[in-house]
Amino acid sequence: MNPQINETAEFLRRKGMLNPDTGIVLGTGLGELAQRIRPEVVLNYEDIPGFPVSTVETHHGKLIYGDLCGHRVLAMQGRFHYYEGYSMERIAFPVRVMKQLGIQQLMLSNAAGGINPDFGKGSLMLITDHINLLGSNPLLGPNDEDLGVRFPDMSQAFHPGLLTRMRQVAAESHLRLCEGVYAAVPGPNLETAAEYRYLRIIGADVVGMSTVPEVITANHLKLPCVAVSVITDECDPDNLKPVKLSDILETAALAEKSLTRLFEAYLMGEPK
Ligand code: HPA
Repeated sequence: MNPQINETAEFLRRKGMLNPDTGIVLGTGLGELAQRIRPEVVLNYEDIPGFPVSTVETHHGKLIYGDLCGHRVLAMQGRFHYYEGYSMERIAFPVRVMKQLGIQQLMLSNAAGGINPDFGKGSLMLITDHINLLGSNPLLGPNDEDLGVRFPDMSQAFHPGLLTRMRQVAAESHLRLCEGVYAAVPGPNLETAAEYRYLRIIGADVVGMSTVPEVITANHLKLPCVAVSVITDECDPDNLKPVKLSDILETAALAEKSLTRLFEAYLMGEPK
């Protein structure tokens, strides 16, 4: 195995990040859940050997270890995007380290553009499947058999048991949860009308610039994962209006209360 994975995991253990059961990756403008964690150890990415450093201003770049709803969680507040110039391998790295530390499930959130006209701005969508349009892949290159197999199966990229649990807790918490397919594009520009039309035709319900590298990495590691998108803008190709980052962040901020409730309900009462 890449010795850096072990070295970083060992560094984090020495800092007290012991036996986390759940990894969490929080998306753009969706850091509120991090505030709900009773923190025991918090490290800035730049202080973690081998970690890439987040460059997006809206991302804080902190790894938080602590208790959330009775779980020992390891949360990444701020993720790494391909459009920032990180290699896919760098984006995969934190997921591999979290697995090495012992997490048994990975929960992800992201902000995404709504392609499905039935899903309005501010909706939450459970990702049931994805389309990788990034033009790259974190598993390119020689395969590390210690991490996983050469050709990982992706027929159930999002773990059926975790999907079921997410649906159940959404219903119990009276939270509306749409379901659909997430398409990942490199960005950083938003899409043209023709591109949104194309995404709809190929079966995407939402589009974003993240999550898929982490999900592919998790599947390679046989790490069950579940992901939820917050729909921050409506991408109607026949009536496309300019979208500003500030609007996306504003919508993310409004929807993040529901997302936080959903993730907390998910962890509450769940076996550790
Ligand atoms: N496209 C791509 N990524 C996004 C969008 C979008 O419309 N909205 C939020 N993230």
